[in-house]
Amino acid sequence: MTTVSPNDIDLEQVLSVSNTEAHELVHHVRDHADAIFTWNYDKGERPALNKLYEKAKGAQWNGETDLPWDTEVDQEAQAMAAVNTFRGFTESYDLAGTPFERWGDREWAQLNVEGSNWTLSQFLHGEQGALVCTAKIVESVPWIDAKYYASTQVMDEARHVEVFAKYLDEKMSGHYPINAHLKMLLDDIIEDGRWDMTYLGMQIMVEGLALAAFGFMHATVEEPLLKQLLRYVMSDEARHVAFGVLSLQEFYAGLSDQELFERQQFAYEASLRMRDRFLQQEVWDRMGVDVKEALQLVVQDPGRVIFQQMLFSKIVPNCKKLGLLDRNDAWLRRRFEEMGVIQFEDWVDTGDEYETFALDAAPGPAAVPA
Ligand SMILES: [Fe+2]
Ligand SMILES: [Fe+2]
Repeated sequence: MTTVSPNDIDLEQVLSVSNTEAHELVHHVRDHADAIFTWNYDKGERPALNKLYEKAKGAQWNGETDLPWDTEVDQEAQAMAAVNTFRGFTESYDLAGTPFERWGDREWAQLNVEGSNWTLSQFLHGEQGALVCTAKIVESVPWIDAKYYASTQVMDEARHVEVFAKYLDEKMSGHYPINAHLKMLLDDIIEDGRWDMTYLGMQIMVEGLALAAFGFMHATVEEPLLKQLLRYVMSDEARHVAFGVLSLQEFYAGLSDQELFERQQFAYEASLRMRDRFLQQEVWDRMGVDVKEALQLVVQDPGRVIFQQMLFSKIVPNCKKLGLLDRNDAWLRRRFEEMGVIQFEDWVDTGDEYETFALDAAPGPAAVPA
């Protein structure tokens, strides 16, 4: 298996794009999809979607009252404690001769604080992307069972936006605007007129990545409020990815090779964008260091390469279940081989997994796969 070298990332290109609307309060995107009515109201015609809908109705939680918001969070103390075990880069990574050689505990702790603010801010903006996308799915999907289910997801995503915004406002020390590359990816998903592309872009790619990222953070964070918040959000997100898998499986089985190839290309392009362009650029800028110099170190950090690959642990098996890996002479399989992520193809796919994420699943949060 060949692996794309992280050195292949074109940092000039990544840094040439910045969020020029960072101070605007609203952002307009042209949506090219038709709004579709259906007169077939036969509930349960798609049993798996109907089951998911019934499940979602009983799994609603209240972001205001179900989380322990009175928990004291001392972000600086957490960051100082974290410095003892992690200083921005893999421990064995040689920083001699770099600007970080002279950094002390205070700078590493500040990096930790800014990194947390950035990550949770991007979660927040991504959640709003999911809110808009699922409202679009309610409009544009032709099946009644899918419209019903998607409407529950709209409520879920509103709750996620709400709790991440509240956590950032009340417990953290600052917000970041949306990363320019995340914004462009969300715009592309929303602009596309083909209804299934909203699913593929949001449910399979963005939410697949988010579910892996939430799982990683849930497994490593100790602050009890954030841990519980992530646990609750993940119980919803697993259903959302399942919704994408269950809906697209049926639709993709009926597509021509050419139509399916367009979906394979879309999935690959989104994978590269998520892997190579979400680099916490804005954090380095705020830390007052040369962003390109810092990113050159970041992308070569062996620990980061492994972390980036883990982020595909949900996406690859879900793409396999959708039949995207092997059609057209296994085109997407070969791309995932080049990215070094094909080893996840037989990991449990989220079409079946969501039951284990449910809040009432035994034996509780420990059952959550990281
Ligand atoms: Fe969400
Ligand atoms: Fe979601």
